[in-house]
Amino acid sequence: MDGAISTFPSARIAVVTGGNKGIGLEVCRQLARNGITVVLTARDETRGAAAVEELREQGLSDVMFHQLDITDASSIARLADFLKTRFGRLDILINNAAFGGVEYARDPADGSVTSEEELSGMDRDQRLEWLWRNTRETYDAAKKGLQTNYYGTKHVIEALLPLLQASSDGIIVNVSSDFGLLRLIKNEELKQELNKVEKLTEERLDEVLATYLRDFEAGEVEARGWPMGFSAYKVAKVAMNAYSRILARRHPELRINCAHPGYVSTDMTIHTGPLTPEEGAGNLVKVALLPEGGPTGAYFALGEEAAFV
Ligand SMILES: NC(=O)c1ccc[n+]([C@@H]2O[C@H](COP(=O)([O-])OP(=O)(O)OC[C@H]3O[C@@H](n4cnc5c(N)ncnc54)[C@H](OP(=O)(O)O)[C@@H]3O)[C@@H](O)[C@H]2O)c1
Repeated sequence: MDGAISTFPSARIAVVTGGNKGIGLEVCRQLARNGITVVLTARDETRGAAAVEELREQGLSDVMFHQLDITDASSIARLADFLKTRFGRLDILINNAAFGGVEYARDPADGSVTSEEELSGMDRDQRLEWLWRNTRETYDAAKKGLQTNYYGTKHVIEALLPLLQASSDGIIVNVSSDFGLLRLIKNEELKQELNKVEKLTEERLDEVLATYLRDFEAGEVEARGWPMGFSAYKVAKVAMNAYSRILARRHPELRINCAHPGYVSTDMTIHTGPLTPEEGAGNLVKVALLPEGGPTGAYFALGEEAAFV
């Protein structure tokens, strides 16, 4: 019957955002290898379908595609409807999709932008410096960074929350970064406020992000103590971490954690990271598959629990 729940799979069901490439694609592969039914989502149908095809060719038949642009409310609603009709629940949500918050001087999707010669022998800081030289931080890119990485992720969570609550062990992994650590906020008062999650509210996070954008537009990012270098990306991840902690307190029936994959070679880093996407994804999947009763409201770096600060 149309609209009815058509299957009750015993396997756990996972949704991965931004699953068409990079770390997200590898997360899909590793979850599927663990016997989990994976809904690989991507904003672009062609790229998403091609990624599913790649996994199916490797014998991972329990992977399906659904379109999802995390900045598009109707796209999010369509995914929620699909999951409700098809499965009636969701067990694992991996919020992986993100945007660098910068304009790239060279197209990161062009595999030829870096060469081994350019990067070989560079340590992490030198690679990051190289990356900074090849990016520009504009107001539009900063705004899009917050809209995608914070608000997009938040809206996906809000829409899928009832389905996660319908699971016996609903899990959210918000893909974070060491660029989201509170130590990067130089305004001591704000840093402490963002760390006091028992008092923090979503409305206050909205105000903080609006203030950040005003300061960005006024050219006062450094003067006001905001993070420098991939500034909007860092601020969005700081906010997402704080939101995760608020949500984990509000929903003790779920497990909601943040996880940093490590510095990974993907389009986002213009392939400067020393870790492979497989290694980065492994650090996230490890958190997603922690046994029942495991931590919630926590931050993991490279698969190990660490401080938000
Ligand atoms: N790479 C690292 O070193 C590193 C370090 C720390 C944290 N992370 C985090 O790891 C995650 C994955 O990053 P990555 O390195 O794999 O980056 P990536 O290769 O650039 O992949 C980003 C993914 O996000 C998708 N995306 C962007 N905007 C979207 C939107 N509005 N709706 C849906 N999907 C969207 C992209 O889709 P398109 O292909 O359509 O653009 C792509 O699938 C991100 O959350 C990132 O912040 C990465």
